[in-house]
Amino acid sequence: MNVPLLDLQAQNGPLRDEILAAMTRVADSQRFIMGPEIDALEGELSALLGIKHAIAVSSGTDAVLLALMSVDIKPGDEVITPTYSFFATAGCVARLGARPVLVDSDPVTFNADPDAVAAAITPRTKAIVPVHLFGQSAEMDPIMRTAERAGIPVIEDAAQAIGGAYKSRPLGGIGAIGCFSFFPSKNLGAFGDAGLVTTNDDALAKRARLLRTHGMQPKYYHRLVGGNFRMDAMQAAVLRVKAPHLAGWTDARRKNAARYRELFAESGIGDKVTLPREPHDRVHIYNQFVIRTPERDALKRHLDGEGIGNEIYYPVPFHLQPCFAYLGYGRGEFPEAERAAAESLAIPIYGELTREQQEAVVSAIAAFVGRKAGALS
Ligand SMILES: Cc1ncc(COP(=O)(O)O)c(C=O)c1O
Repeated sequence: MNVPLLDLQAQNGPLRDEILAAMTRVADSQRFIMGPEIDALEGELSALLGIKHAIAVSSGTDAVLLALMSVDIKPGDEVITPTYSFFATAGCVARLGARPVLVDSDPVTFNADPDAVAAAITPRTKAIVPVHLFGQSAEMDPIMRTAERAGIPVIEDAAQAIGGAYKSRPLGGIGAIGCFSFFPSKNLGAFGDAGLVTTNDDALAKRARLLRTHGMQPKYYHRLVGGNFRMDAMQAAVLRVKAPHLAGWTDARRKNAARYRELFAESGIGDKVTLPREPHDRVHIYNQFVIRTPERDALKRHLDGEGIGNEIYYPVPFHLQPCFAYLGYGRGEFPEAERAAAESLAIPIYGELTREQQEAVVSAIAAFVGRKAGALS
């Protein structure tokens, strides 16, 4: 049985008529930039997430860039980020001329190690950007304490974690600013690029809104050097149809994660591959279900051959990326992140996955593990 890593049609298909009607509404209105769809989406997402301000932007990458600009990150500043994440987190820091100061990961959650964050603070540190990787919160309390002691803001990269929680607090609403992505593969995906900046701080919201449109107010008078970080009205219209379904989709992903745990335990290979762990104080939204094994590359080849969708998120941590050679880090410097990059493999977890498909995934992995065990005996 072929099982794709993600089946967007399964999610979007049932909403086809509603989505096309929403897109037609925008086409008929000819209000393509800002306007009522954006205003309505911002109000709806603010209520859905429980965060005072929701600012619609052009992508998750631009959300991170705009957040950094909103807290006034400048050339020469240091910004602490995990070395194991999607590129945008550190890329945006570098684009502002600031220095990404990288930290190692926690081996259980894949997120930034809070002790390493505390140890990386210097007088030049101007922000901390924890990432809620794969949909699971970073350890926010110690990171927030470190930031408070240093008198600097925390920017949550919640691109993969919309609707997730840490100690009952919504992700993206704990630090000074939160950043989300609506890339189509996210739990809430647009029909193209789109993102969101969130904050409970009125002054930061005002500044982010200003920077979103070239720092312009009134028209053609520029108070700040910003950019064009606007979300298209067409994407807002699509997201307005989809957003009310987010909680149900996340619930389905969480149920699938629980079912994987059962199936792996039943197959007797539960101790041969490491499944994602969910500390009791966090709500993981399973944007990805990432397993670990030292035999990752061979397992990947096996699953590819069996038609089971899988992906490596991410094969190379930032400190080993050619574009960051100038930062001067070396191999071996962040051992947990390097191990995660070598061992992790995402398997299908989308909400519409059926029991039969999940059984096919687990039996393909069990066959691989069995073959390895047979070869060793
Ligand atoms: C952790 C993280 N940050 C930022 C982004 C950037 O989002 P986008 O692809 O919408 O620009 C992503 C996207 O995958 C991400 O995973």
